[in-house]
Amino acid sequence: MADPLHLVTEVARRALSEAAGLPEDQVDPVVRPSDRADLQVNGALALAKRVGSTPRQLAEAVVAGGGFASTCAAAEVAGPGFVNLTLRSEFIAGLCVDAAADPHVGVSPAGHRERVVVDYSAPNIAKEMHAGHLRSTVIGDALVRLLAFLGHDVRRENHVGDWGTPFGMLIEHLVDEGGLAAAATMHVADLNVFYREARTKFDASEEFRERARRRVTLLQGRRDPETMALWQALVGQSMAHFEWVYRTLGVLLTKADLAGESQYQDGMPAVLERLDAAGLLADSDGAKVVWVPGFTNRDGDPLPLIVQARTGGFNYATSDLACVIDRTERLGRTLLLYVVGTPQAQHLSMVFAVAGMAGFLVPPARAVHVNFGSVLGDDRKMLRSRSGDPVTFVELVDEAVQRGRAAVAEKGSDVPADQLDALGAAIGIGALKYAELSSDRIKDYVFDWQRMLAFEGNTGPYLQYAHARICSILRRAAADAGGDGGAPDGVAPILDDPHERALALAALRFDSAVHDAASTFSPHRLCTYLFDLAQTFTAFYEHCPVLKAPEPARTSRLALCRLTARVLATGLGLLGIDAPERM
Ligand code: ARG
Repeated sequence: MADPLHLVTEVARRALSEAAGLPEDQVDPVVRPSDRADLQVNGALALAKRVGSTPRQLAEAVVAGGGFASTCAAAEVAGPGFVNLTLRSEFIAGLCVDAAADPHVGVSPAGHRERVVVDYSAPNIAKEMHAGHLRSTVIGDALVRLLAFLGHDVRRENHVGDWGTPFGMLIEHLVDEGGLAAAATMHVADLNVFYREARTKFDASEEFRERARRRVTLLQGRRDPETMALWQALVGQSMAHFEWVYRTLGVLLTKADLAGESQYQDGMPAVLERLDAAGLLADSDGAKVVWVPGFTNRDGDPLPLIVQARTGGFNYATSDLACVIDRTERLGRTLLLYVVGTPQAQHLSMVFAVAGMAGFLVPPARAVHVNFGSVLGDDRKMLRSRSGDPVTFVELVDEAVQRGRAAVAEKGSDVPADQLDALGAAIGIGALKYAELSSDRIKDYVFDWQRMLAFEGNTGPYLQYAHARICSILRRAAADAGGDGGAPDGVAPILDDPHERALALAALRFDSAVHDAASTFSPHRLCTYLFDLAQTFTAFYEHCPVLKAPEPARTSRLALCRLTARVLATGLGLLGIDAPERM
């Protein structure tokens, strides 16, 4: 681990264990960054009583052991029994050299590598994606990148809604419109209209309802070639639309990650058999259900998970249970992440509980609902377009690109004219993604184009710009040196100025920031860190001239610049955001 916090924590654990006369696994040194020193050891406070000592005495013994000599220039007992540590500059500089030489910029791999599946995006076929799916897509993609970076084996799954009773009416409507030939010319933007037209007919006509019902039966039988071809055409049209969105957004999902509800249909009878064999299946008003302890409805009555309707049909819960079995038993996954909005919290916790009771999800395998709040408009209500309809995904992505281009035009840029469009797109998409990622996902977030595209504050463009500015310093240095040698490798930075020291320590915290964001499935923590690093860089740059500094400060500061730029670019990359070198 590059972060001195982790290295010093291990040193402090040893020192505290010796001072307290307890095994290392029974002491927690509680090392934290502090205002008074680089780091503070707080562990003596909680432990003193247990070993019949006072916190101050114990802290004195921790220091007296001498274990901090190689990492710290000073270790002093303070207050009721803290130990204030001042790190050795050579120690910090050495870690900077290591991080600079590391392809992961100092981020250590996960100690325990897991086989993960991330279920994200998951729009519904024949319906346009809406703003809520944007959150799942952007958050899920950042988690995939973070976990893979730490060395986990990550499988992406796009659990699209491509099955179920609505397909009866959708297929019949397609037949009325001209069948397969009509599907081929269907336009992306028509999908919502198409869905609404089908719905209107379904509500208005008994004859249409009857046809739709018959069609559902044919679809479920999976044998009628015409029905399957029509269904496939609807799925294909929607997928083409989703893929355009993923490409434009720079999201990793492709066709290969499709794991739609239709794929779990064959597994559903087995779900019922296994629930029955486990003695969990009960009858409730003719439906087959599982009673899940601890779940009640609004009136406080026990709430069952329905796995087979009275009519014999399976549902969303049954397919999710079959999906759990697939993920744990066929794919051998031990961590199942569901990046799905908070409204599905009850559904998912019931599915996870039943999967546990039935033995589909056996510890250490676990499922986590990585939930998120809604996207709100500036009126604090659900985001809507001017027409009053929910804003679609395509509209949002298109607008982000346009606004990014406008922002570039307004600000001015030094990139060649033929690259301006690409830069504008990178800024617009970056701004949109960063806005989704930088707020705590469990809260609702207010969608505000102006704020997300600002070049000031905790925004994507601010971080992209901070990175590009450092790249430009490095380019100038390289030009001065005649093409190379702007920031040679292996330079141990001199950390005499407090701003140099602060920047070095901030860059080394990348390690903890990535681990922290990944282990809590909270990309916003990485955003907060990157914003902090960019600000620390600005303070450094204000106080410490780089290109005009005399040697050896100049080379040393260039090394700090290069390390910072790499952390920013790598960090933005983990969020799925481009870091252009020129803006
Ligand atoms: N298609 C669903 C929706 O749009 C989300 C699916 C989430 N994943 C799952 N395994 N249930 O609401």
